[in-house]
Amino acid sequence: MTDKKKILLSGVKPTGRPHIGNYFGAMKQFADLQDEYDARVFIADYHAITTVQNAAELSRNTLDVALDYLAIGIDPKKTLLFKQSDLPELCELAWIFNCITTMPYLMRAHAYKDAEAKNKEINVGIFDYPILMTADILIQDADAVPVGQDQKQHVEYARDTAEKFNRIFGETFKLPNSLILDHVKIIPGTDGQKMSKSYGNTIALFAEFEDIKKAVMSIPTNSQGVDESKDPEKDNIFALHKHFADAEEIEEIEKRYTNGGLGYKESKEILISNIEKFIAPLREKRKEFAKDEDAVRKMLKENGEKAREIALSKMKEVKKAVGLY
Ligand code: ADP
Ligand code: TRP
Repeated sequence: MTDKKKILLSGVKPTGRPHIGNYFGAMKQFADLQDEYDARVFIADYHAITTVQNAAELSRNTLDVALDYLAIGIDPKKTLLFKQSDLPELCELAWIFNCITTMPYLMRAHAYKDAEAKNKEINVGIFDYPILMTADILIQDADAVPVGQDQKQHVEYARDTAEKFNRIFGETFKLPNSLILDHVKIIPGTDGQKMSKSYGNTIALFAEFEDIKKAVMSIPTNSQGVDESKDPEKDNIFALHKHFADAEEIEEIEKRYTNGGLGYKESKEILISNIEKFIAPLREKRKEFAKDEDAVRKMLKENGEKAREIALSKMKEVKKAVGLY
């Protein structure tokens, strides 16, 4: 039975279409690890309200994320795939954590500091984001939280908060660990920076062929001719080849760059073809699942009920520890 397995938990905000960076940095791991762990993956719709403030958009995005997960191979028979807002207890737990969290501690969060440095308007939800995430993780007694490097600090908030709660109210929460697999690297975008929605340099995970072509063609290059020797490490096309070509092909491309003979146009064509090879099967699978959205909503609802049972049982323990009984 799954009882003996370690609990893996992660979530993704339904705030836009996923890109290849999200896939390699986070989503793929959920599919890869679902046999080994008691896996739970949720769509962080409460977190999304910090930025998405339109009902139709939030609801659509949420279903889209469910379709994305199904398409990348999340099997709802193995992974408890649910919607965060089906567990209102998370808000209750976040409140309790708020009461043992200091403002200066939250002010050290990278995401908050970045937003402040950019003079962005910061709502209380954004400020408190790490605490809701802490509730997500601790309510499930998660052992492992697979996230990209940029989310590591948030998992540390969860650990710190679990320790603090246990110190104040008695042993209640397990200390979670982030799970950052060694081979998971930061995927570069079309401009060489980290691929990110905020930089407008993404290639969508379920992109149609024409969109892949457009994105790759937009990669800036210098004016070196076909026969000139090029430094592969300074080229944004090559940075992406590393993730889409097999070892032999990478070596071949590297050689042709260094020796001269590979022009940027051909290099881009190779990349387009390799990305298409990778994306096409995912894209087709997603279209299949999208034919029956009602079935997907039903699955989310049923899984939400199961996840809520877990949450309610943990909350009983928490309330007792705090004195809310
Ligand atoms: P974005 O930067 O596009 O807004 P998110 O912050 O929503 O992406 O990240 C969602 C998940 O995907 C996180 O776990 C994050 O670490 C991972 N991720 C995002 N971009 C990349 C990337 N370029 N390479 C690797 N992982 C990434
Ligand atoms: N903050 C995560 C992100 O932006 C999403 C998230 C919310 C999450 N709650 C979580 C991830 C709990 C792991 C565990 O990608």
